[in-house]
Amino acid sequence: MKSISFAPSHTMGHPLREGAGISSPSIPLLEVEGLTKRFQGVVALRDYRLTLQEGEILGVIGPNGAGKTTLINLLSGFIRPDGGHIRFRGQDLTRLSTHRIPKLGIARTFQNIRLFPSLTALENVMVAMTVHHPPDVLSTLFGFGPGHRRVRMLRERAMALLEQMGIAHLAHRPSSALSYGDQRRVEIARALALEPSLLLLDEPTAGLHPEESEALIDLLSRLHRERRMAIVMVAHDMPVVMRFCPRLHVLSSGTLLAEGTPEEIRNNPLVLEAFLGRSGRSGAA
Ligand SMILES: Nc1ncnc2c1ncn2[C@@H]1O[C@H](COP(=O)(O)OP(=O)(O)O)[C@@H](O)[C@H]1O
Ligand SMILES: [Mg+2]
Repeated sequence: MKSISFAPSHTMGHPLREGAGISSPSIPLLEVEGLTKRFQGVVALRDYRLTLQEGEILGVIGPNGAGKTTLINLLSGFIRPDGGHIRFRGQDLTRLSTHRIPKLGIARTFQNIRLFPSLTALENVMVAMTVHHPPDVLSTLFGFGPGHRRVRMLRERAMALLEQMGIAHLAHRPSSALSYGDQRRVEIARALALEPSLLLLDEPTAGLHPEESEALIDLLSRLHRERRMAIVMVAHDMPVVMRFCPRLHVLSSGTLLAEGTPEEIRNNPLVLEAFLGRSGRSGAA
């Protein structure tokens, strides 16, 4: 495999992370080694490795069935690996129970949007906030006491997130009544409610019109500038990935085929062959 080193210049000397007491600069945010997952004989991911620094953006591309969603499922603790390690700020995630992973600051979105359809956009975001702020059941039911103030605070913060995503005006609609693109934005707001330092996005622009995709990527770029969270974005929409991600991994049949900058990936013969076959010339699917 052609391995290309990458210096994440945009994350160096990160002012927001320093002094936060969260991690020493020498420990990467994420260290993955030998990560392997099989499904009934199919190796969905084989011996995958990754080192990701605080605030870094990685794009993961590959044809259908390459193992991209499996990777997101593993990194977010939705499924367990058959082999290998995932260390988040030095802590081995594969030894933690699943419900503890969002609390560490790892949030994700789904390739097929998963919202509570009958809850409003605002409620969908507020539910996610209970990971850090367990709800006070009585005060939620009867609307009084200190818990009530907390619910009001959560509501205001959820509203602010919807505003950041440009959908505050849709806050009180059931999420099932929203357009696909707006549901995606609710899902991202919900992920941001976990105050993640690692955001995992599984095909965030799938099913969007090109203008919608572009607007969403602009928005994600702004959020990244403001929040400095690391992002792993899985996609097969090449122009989107190339624009958003300074560093790419290419998966093919569960194997890390290549890594590098968009430019390096574009010119890598192995990648062209995996995506297009020997004769292809157009952009990868
Ligand atoms: N829950 C599952 N059960 C069985 N096979 C699965 C499951 N999830 C993924 N796979 C298989 O693993 C491979 C990788 O799938 P996936 O990670 O969804 O690929 P991608 O997201 O790149 O399209 C495929 O062959 C897929 O059929
Ligand atoms: Mg997928």
